[in-house]
Amino acid sequence: MIEPKFDDLGRIVVIIPTYNERENLGLIVGRLRAAVPEAHVLVADDNSPDGTGAIADELAASDEHVRVLHRRGKEGLGAAYLAGFEWSLTEGYDVVVEMDADGSHQPEQLPRLLAALRDADLVLGSRWVPGGSVVNWPSSRKVLSRGGNLYTRVMLGVPLHDATGGFRAFRAQTLRTLDLTGVESKGYCFQVDLAWRAVRAGLRVREVPIEFVERELGVSKMNQRIVVEALWRVTVWGAADKAAKVRQVFAGRQGTSSPPAQRPRG
Ligand code: GDD
Ligand code: MN
Repeated sequence: MIEPKFDDLGRIVVIIPTYNERENLGLIVGRLRAAVPEAHVLVADDNSPDGTGAIADELAASDEHVRVLHRRGKEGLGAAYLAGFEWSLTEGYDVVVEMDADGSHQPEQLPRLLAALRDADLVLGSRWVPGGSVVNWPSSRKVLSRGGNLYTRVMLGVPLHDATGGFRAFRAQTLRTLDLTGVESKGYCFQVDLAWRAVRAGLRVREVPIEFVERELGVSKMNQRIVVEALWRVTVWGAADKAAKVRQVFAGRQGTSSPPAQRPRG
């Protein structure tokens, strides 16, 4: 029997959102079960037309560590994760992990994230810190990711290098602290939304380097609508945040500090 390495963290569940990942799901679940045998797996499938849901059911039938959340239809990555979080909290897990199905997030690197969670509330697998990397991405996609992260850092003032990535580990308590009912993000900007909420809540957010490997099978679900939603929401959040800070400065002036010296009028 293999000794669990992370039993001090409690019960771990890895949520894998899927939409048309039939070639990838069996491989990724197999790798994950080998890399972190004590972790449970929840596949959150949006009724994939390619039959990924049925493959997930087969995996679940032969392995009691695997469960499946069947959703009505494609509602976006954010919605799938929110449903998965709710399920995980109800089931009483202590650690909730996000991981893509396509092999871009390597299960063999999950122990790194879990180890870092020992003194953090949220751990982000980061492509854009020293030691992090991306394999097989066209330069256009690198520019999009780096640009998106730079824009996020400037607009929201978050001290993070990869707030858009999707390989992360949350303490269950972190998810309970964040107001998940207020999350409206549907697509990939869901990742930014949660990271920002955690930073604002004063939680300990740590980034650890990962090697992100572009998928070899199936296709990315990233599209223009997802990019536009992210750009739009980050802009609105940033503007609202800056307006609130300006209001605070003015309220501060009227309230606590002394009024500016008046020049005598003649
Ligand atoms: N259930 C469900 N519903 N799953 C979805 C949906 C959806 O609407 N859209 C995407 N997924 C799943 C995919 O099946 C895959 O397992 C994972 O979400 C990531 O989707 P990809 O389409 O492979 O994303 P990517 O490689 O282009 O994007 C990567 O970079 C993004 C931006 O940095 C991922 O790491 C994302 O997590 C990350 O936000
Ligand atoms: Mn991918």
